[in-house]
Amino acid sequence: MLNKVKKKVNEYGQEHLLAFYNELNPAKQEELIDDINKIDFSLITRVYKEINVQSCPARDVTPMKATDSTLFSQGERDKYIAIGNQAIADGKVAALTMCGGMGTRLGHNGPKGTYDIGLPSHKSLFEIQACGLKDVGEGNIPWYIMTSNINNDATVQFFKDHDFFGYPSENIFFFRQAMISVLNKDGKILLESKDKVLKSPNGNGGLFLSLKESGGLDDMNKRGIEYLFICGIDNCLVKMADPVFVGYHISEGAPACAKSFMKRTAEEKAAIFCYSEGKPFVIEYTEIPEELANARDENGAFIYGDTNVLNYIFNVNIIEELCQYYMPYHPAIKKVTYLDTNSGSCVTIPDGLKFELFLFDYFSHIEDLRLLRIDRDQEFAPVKNQTGIDSVETAREMYMKVHKEEQA
Ligand code: UTP
Repeated sequence: MLNKVKKKVNEYGQEHLLAFYNELNPAKQEELIDDINKIDFSLITRVYKEINVQSCPARDVTPMKATDSTLFSQGERDKYIAIGNQAIADGKVAALTMCGGMGTRLGHNGPKGTYDIGLPSHKSLFEIQACGLKDVGEGNIPWYIMTSNINNDATVQFFKDHDFFGYPSENIFFFRQAMISVLNKDGKILLESKDKVLKSPNGNGGLFLSLKESGGLDDMNKRGIEYLFICGIDNCLVKMADPVFVGYHISEGAPACAKSFMKRTAEEKAAIFCYSEGKPFVIEYTEIPEELANARDENGAFIYGDTNVLNYIFNVNIIEELCQYYMPYHPAIKKVTYLDTNSGSCVTIPDGLKFELFLFDYFSHIEDLRLLRIDRDQEFAPVKNQTGIDSVETAREMYMKVHKEEQA
């Protein structure tokens, strides 16, 4: 086995991974070999080669229209709520929270969902979502929670310690997303310790494959789920399985829907929905040409202004197909700490290479996407940082404004 692994690491110029092999006891040697065997070397080689290739720039960009939910008449709103609630009552709707990220910016010691943003009730982000889901579906909506190796055990333990926040545990399904090796700028795979390769979660786009491989997709099919509501963990104003959204999605009949809000200024650092080559697309603010970023319609509204909120509904019957596509990995230069094979000690570098799949890249493989524009002040308060923009402070303040019952 060792010879086979030696051959492999030599072939890919990663022989340093075995630098400490002889120092390890047999059990740890086996663990290291096992870890190295799990590396997809050809994938790593390809994504490293691709980092200097400009990601395919959006071409032939056209606007994507949104339905503005803030302009719904009471009748329209009631109609969507009735359709959404019926689908929920019929057991056709599930919710999925993506919690596999590392929450680096927040710097909380533990899974982000366990974070207490300082509400009078001291509800954690997980509890906020559990309460929101209970309000809509009385605990009958199956809830899929994507974790990663880094935070899975702590997440499951937190739910157990809090009695699953009163949510029926048989309706909660934890699954882990895949991890991918972390490299240095020279393309060398880094070690976390003498017997372990350094890995990080493979991005929120790892969702569909991990859902399938974990048996989560089978579970949904067995339960007869048709519509999957998807969100992140860090928007404390998220409307879990929002019946208006579900009703809108069903009425539109498209394979997927996304919530959006209108950017406030042309310069806002927001990823924008559009079509590229006729396919739904999300364009990063860095890639949007200035004249498009500034373009306004006859009413003065931004033509390219609908911002990605990380809040979607997908028809479950397209997920299997989406799993077949090769999706691009996006490189991110991040501070990483690893075990240096030369000095034998832990080193922190500012320019480690992490790789992430983005969920919105899947949009280019679906027939169409519908956008439901929301009131940003009512539904979007992300917890990314401790202070400043999108921070614990701003999120708490916004949450308190919307949820008056929280006022002590
Ligand atoms: P972010 O991109 O904001 O990442 O994730 P993060 O991990 O929360 O925070 P930073 O960037 O390290 O500071 C948005 C949502 O996507 C999830 C996160 O858990 C969060 O709910 N996510 C992100 C995953 O589930 N897996 C990933 O690999 C990355």
